[in-house]
Parts: sequence; C-alpha cells; structure tokens
Amino acid sequence: MSERPRRRILVLHGPNLNLLGQREPGIYGTTTLDEINALLSAEADAAGVELEFLQSNHEGALIDAIHRLGWEASGIIINPGAFTHYSIAIRDAIAAVPAPTIEIHLSNTAAREAFRHHSVIAPVARGTIAGLGYHGYLLAMRYLIEGADG
Ligand code: DQA
Repeated sequence: MSERPRRRILVLHGPNLNLLGQREPGIYGTTTLDEINALLSAEADAAGVELEFLQSNHEGALIDAIHRLGWEASGIIINPGAFTHYSIAIRDAIAAVPAPTIEIHLSNTAAREAFRHHSVIAPVARGTIAGLGYHGYLLAMRYLIEGADG
C-alpha cells in the first residue's frame, strides 16, 4: 500500500516582515517572524504537515517560490506586505497555480491609510484574514489543514 504523501504548506512573508518585533510594534506587535514561524511549526508538526517558509523583500523571489511549490502544495499562506496593494505579478502567480492561497495581514488594513484598503491579491485568494496579528497565520493554517479540499 502506498503511503499518502505528507501535506505541505508554503508560508510566504513579504517585504519588511523580517523586521517584525522592531518594526512599528504599535501596529504590527512585538512577536518576531521567527516566533510566528515557530508557532506555525509546532502546530504543523502535531498535524503531520510540512511547512516551507520564505521571507523575501524581493517580488521575484516570492513569485519563484509560488511557481516552485504552488502545484504540489496543499496551500499557500502569504502576507505580501506592501506588494498586496500593487503587485499584479504576485497576483498572477497565485492565479496560475492550483494551491488555495490565504492572504494574511497582521494589521487591520481597512482601518489604516486609504492606499492600504485595496488588495490586488484578494480576488485570487481563497480568503483574507486581517487585523488579528499572528493569530491570522495560525487560523489560515488550520483552515488549510482541515477545511480546504485543494
Ligand atoms: C501588512 C499590511 C501592509 O499594508 C504593509 O505594507 C505591510 C504589512 C500587514 O501585515 O498588516 O508590510 O501586510
């Protein structure tokens, strides 16, 4: 009997998110990116799910990761940072691959500056979670493990 392949979820963090913990903590909180990834890993391990993490300040690196894993991954969790608001290239990469994608924002972008109200990613995402801090990542992962069929 062949074993079912381990499920894999791609976790992408966009520009400036490497500075979490130090960056505008009143808006983004004091939890660092490593701490968020560790919280995700602990839950993924318990569920037998493999996570692949990438933080990049470069649009092309995020697109390459979506191309590389978006065909076989059971889901993508992405906080595109400021690319959310204008990267048609990331939007098109997400639209090109079958993995269901959840868009995450630590802050409530709808309650901030007008230029953060529009997301070019949202129409190609399975859903968006904003304003719940790092909990958004954990909720997205639970959805991809339990709720998504893709
Ligand atoms: C963000 C919101 C974006 O508007 C901003 O450019 C970020 C972080 C968030 O997580 O709240 O870099 O995606």
